[in-house]
Amino acid sequence: MVAELSASGVQPEPAFLAAARRKPAAHTPIWVMRQAGRYLPEYRELRAKHDFVSMTRNPELAAEVTMQPLRRFELDAAILFSDIMTPLQGMGVQIDFAPGPIVAQPFRTDAQIDALPPLVPARDVPFVLESVKLVRANVPRGAPLIGFAGGPFTLFRYLVCGKPSKEFEAARSFLFAHPESSERLLDKLADAMAAYLRAQAEAGAQALMLFESWAGLLGPREFQRFALRAAKRTFAGLSNVGVPLIYYPNNGGSLLDQVAAMNVDVVGIDWRTPLSVARRTLGPDKGVQGNLDPAALFSSPEDLRKHVQAVLTEAGPAPGHIFNLGHGIWQQTNPDNVARLVDYVHELSSKR
Ligand code: CP3
Repeated sequence: MVAELSASGVQPEPAFLAAARRKPAAHTPIWVMRQAGRYLPEYRELRAKHDFVSMTRNPELAAEVTMQPLRRFELDAAILFSDIMTPLQGMGVQIDFAPGPIVAQPFRTDAQIDALPPLVPARDVPFVLESVKLVRANVPRGAPLIGFAGGPFTLFRYLVCGKPSKEFEAARSFLFAHPESSERLLDKLADAMAAYLRAQAEAGAQALMLFESWAGLLGPREFQRFALRAAKRTFAGLSNVGVPLIYYPNNGGSLLDQVAAMNVDVVGIDWRTPLSVARRTLGPDKGVQGNLDPAALFSSPEDLRKHVQAVLTEAGPAPGHIFNLGHGIWQQTNPDNVARLVDYVHELSSKR
């Protein structure tokens, strides 16, 4: 599916990379956020033997887990198995997973911000770059590999809150109480993630995605001043990297007019915003990625097919749609429904 031989014998560009460049593709490509993870029995089997952090730090295990969903499903792209907090661990921040990240000493002072060192990927996270190379050499069907990082504000939210909280009071009040310190921390994170993403591309990642999973916490003014400014700084550091760039502002439907000004190829859209609205707001020079509700994987096969068709119809006939869920797949999902999802997307999109 990914790299069929054409009549001329020339390998056509994989559908994922074509769509990421807003070029026509033989079918709408699909991959699934968190496709490597706990809904897969083969992941749980490995995870029973190794803790999560060890799995992210061991290139053979990380590459194996990255490829598990590609063996089971005809997915059009792989995404590196890792975590958004992994590079911060490489910068010396002590983080546990339970299963979400817990920061031992939450960031609350200028001294902590000043002490955060820059990231030197080859020194601080060499295992990530090794994992990228292993996946590129072994991935089923030559599927393209997506490298990723956390958005600066999403990392900020975990660093400042430290542990789960309902309203994210610590992070949100820090922005208002210490705006300059917040900007300084966000700038440091933005530069570290630019270095991190560049290193992944140099190691072989064929697209780069920035997960701003907590964009939706912010009102438009704070989004502009803190999250968007820092994400733009990351992408500015990647302008000549040569691979498609994807920005995912989760729960960011009301922020898309600001996102339209970003220098990225594709914007990830959660399920709350119809893709037709997103495309209108973002304009013709951006692709869209998304946006089936992860809960839709609990519908009957007949209904799932209709939900897939609805997303394809919303995306419209113009090139530049990468099918995905609106956010990460749930742990309770039946893998058989993921197989159906992939088949429906390929079948319904190649008929048009
Ligand atoms: O297949 C993939 O998508 C690649 C792997 C991946 C993981 N985390 C593995 C993981 C990716 C891309 C991430 C990114 C990530 N991590 C994000 C951004 C994406 C998003 O969902 O918004 C965020 C916010 C995190 C932080 C994080 N890490 C959380 C909130 C959790 C708990 C998740 C949960 O489902 O409860 C983690 C742990 C984590 N990251 C797991 C996995 C497979 C579960 C760890 C385990 O096996 O126990």
